[in-house]
Amino acid sequence: MNWAEIKKTARERFGPACRVCPVCDGRACAGEMPGMGGVGSGASFMSNVAALARYRLNLRTLHDNDTPDTRLTLFGHALEIPILVAPVAGTAPNMNNAVSEEDLADALMGGAVAAGSLGMAGDGPSPKFAEIGLATLARYEGRGCFISKPRHAEDILRLLHQAEDAGAWAVGVDIDAAGIINMVRAGQYVGPKPVSAWRDIIARLGRPFILKGIMTPDEAEMALDTGAAAIVVSNHGGRILDHTPGTADVLPSIAARVKGKITILADGGVRSGYDVLKMLALGADAVMVGRPMAIAAVGGGKEAVAALLAQYADQLRSAMILTGCGSLADVNARILWRDGA
Ligand SMILES: Cc1cc2nc3c(=O)[nH]c(=O)nc-3n(C[C@H](O)[C@H](O)[C@H](O)COP(=O)(O)O)c2cc1C
Repeated sequence: MNWAEIKKTARERFGPACRVCPVCDGRACAGEMPGMGGVGSGASFMSNVAALARYRLNLRTLHDNDTPDTRLTLFGHALEIPILVAPVAGTAPNMNNAVSEEDLADALMGGAVAAGSLGMAGDGPSPKFAEIGLATLARYEGRGCFISKPRHAEDILRLLHQAEDAGAWAVGVDIDAAGIINMVRAGQYVGPKPVSAWRDIIARLGRPFILKGIMTPDEAEMALDTGAAAIVVSNHGGRILDHTPGTADVLPSIAARVKGKITILADGGVRSGYDVLKMLALGADAVMVGRPMAIAAVGGGKEAVAALLAQYADQLRSAMILTGCGSLADVNARILWRDGA
């Protein structure tokens, strides 16, 4: 892969919507939401990147783990790598129409499938986004997830039943989008719901359910009572509430409460296989990546998304060898060094 060429193409296609910075850290695009940035001051997006950067990895080589195993079982399916493609939708509002919505969705899910991973289709202010996401999911024989916005219960169920018909491995809702600005501006209802409402919704579904957007240990514990199969520790890439902590900062306290009781996914600011390893060590079972995958999709289609996942996977394998981890089960906080600790 010629990354310089892919980035150049992405930059040209995005125009002002994304500068394709050397490090995607939320500085240049602060406040550009709709757009690719973080909401308000951009602090939540920047906190995600900064939180991961505060952790370092302890180098250990006096062991015999020379072929690390990155495989895992997620939602009852075997995956080659614990690195998933997060739902990223809306090329018109967010990406200056850099590519068509169909091409973006196809590149993200197709790239994930090609890399032995899992993609997620998203929902947005235009019904077109969900339609395209669901069609993409069907084209890849359901090898992915569909994440609805936190709409009225009947609308969530309609979309998630369609995702189930498309064969989705899991379905979910980005509950953190309860006040997301682009839905509000488009006059689309989104709102919060209590545990009892989620319990009723989840009971009417036949696939594992994901609650995306948990940022506190108490809500992680409440998620256990909804019947959800997984939570995503996420602040939506810093796009919904200004001034949240970074996800890597809150992940350990959440894992301390619910690890082993519910699948823990995490995203926000993951920019390499080293960051993936840090998130796993902090308590995630698998990690999701948003903007870097969208940039790869815009600059080089599904081949570039698959290649970026392969690059992160290579970095993860190398880092597992150099921190003494033979399998994902060996990854824990002993491999981490925290600045100032
Ligand atoms: C342009 C854009 C569109 C997004 N669309 C969705 C969406 O439709 N549904 C959703 O659950 N999350 C959406 N997200 C959030 C991502 O799934 C993910 O949580 C976030 O991007 C992770 O942070 P990262 O971009 O720093 O990796 C979107 C993010 C971006 C940047």
